[in-house]
Amino acid sequence: MPAPATRPVTPADLSPADFYQYLIGAVAPRPIAFASTVSAEGAVNLSPYSFFTIVSQNPPMLVFSPTSRGRDNSEKDTLHNVRAVPEVVINICDYALVEQLSLASAEYPSGVNEFTKAGLTEAKSDKVRPPRVAECPAAFECVVEQIIALGDGPGHGNLVLCRVVQAHFREDILLAGKPGIDPLKLEAVSRLGGDWYSRLRPENLFTVGRPNRHLGIGFDELPAHLRHSDLLTGNDLAKLANVERAALPTPAQIAEIKAEPMVAYLLHKHRDDAAEQQKQLTLLARQWLAKGRVAEAWRVLLVS
Ligand SMILES: Cc1cc2nc3c(=O)[nH]c(=O)nc-3n(C[C@H](O)[C@H](O)[C@H](O)COP(=O)(O)O)c2cc1C
Repeated sequence: MPAPATRPVTPADLSPADFYQYLIGAVAPRPIAFASTVSAEGAVNLSPYSFFTIVSQNPPMLVFSPTSRGRDNSEKDTLHNVRAVPEVVINICDYALVEQLSLASAEYPSGVNEFTKAGLTEAKSDKVRPPRVAECPAAFECVVEQIIALGDGPGHGNLVLCRVVQAHFREDILLAGKPGIDPLKLEAVSRLGGDWYSRLRPENLFTVGRPNRHLGIGFDELPAHLRHSDLLTGNDLAKLANVERAALPTPAQIAEIKAEPMVAYLLHKHRDDAAEQQKQLTLLARQWLAKGRVAEAWRVLLVS
């Protein structure tokens, strides 16, 4: 298959504001930190930040980045606050809260409490001064360890490195019997480009087995007729390539699969047309791959 057409885009040829549109559209979806901070005088601030992720397991660290304002390079209140009081609560919103989160992003004057503007409830934190959002399904109380400026022009980022010292999780999102969050219960929201958001729905979730317990043969060792097949996708081939050499089908297993009712039917039906036979067996293998029946898919793909 020919490689799809691509367009080269060089940041230096565009205004930062235009290149930003490509960045936020392609680096998506991004989780959102709903950051609660306090000023030196104790005024509470709450703002969303989608330049946000986990950056360390031990110690548990999060990072988010308030950029300077594009119009006048001024500092956002959140950054001003964490310089004065190096503590923050990073709240995580679900779909039920997304409009209130958006409301809190409005540029209210410094000193205006966005909890009040967005109709959210302050809950006292255990270990830091900023309050957490009582309505949020998860909240991380953090100490700000470092602030790293990433430039000095309009729109420059400021990495706020946050060490988590306490967390709060709504009971109903927790996994039963082991540590962790049930992805089917947390209807997380995230940010894309433009005004787009996404919402996690159970029907959009799937698992991918991690290949860390064994070493699969890899694409380069797949038989050429499979690697170059127009019928198998990259995902199909990756499932086949994730099988260890020792688990590849034996001649006896390949002979055995010929007796499987669907395989036997296709072999018989297309006995006079080798190409059609191969095509139909490959389509059957695809269906089995989609159902996780990788060993059987391998066998049927080696039948002819
Ligand atoms: C979903 C969402 C994500 C945002 N992410 C960021 C971000 O990562 N960095 C940033 O500087 N501003 C971001 N903003 C804009 C800030 O929330 C906005 O500038 C806010 O007014 C800053 O408030 P503050 O001055 O009270 O800190 C985001 C807004 C929304 C709605």
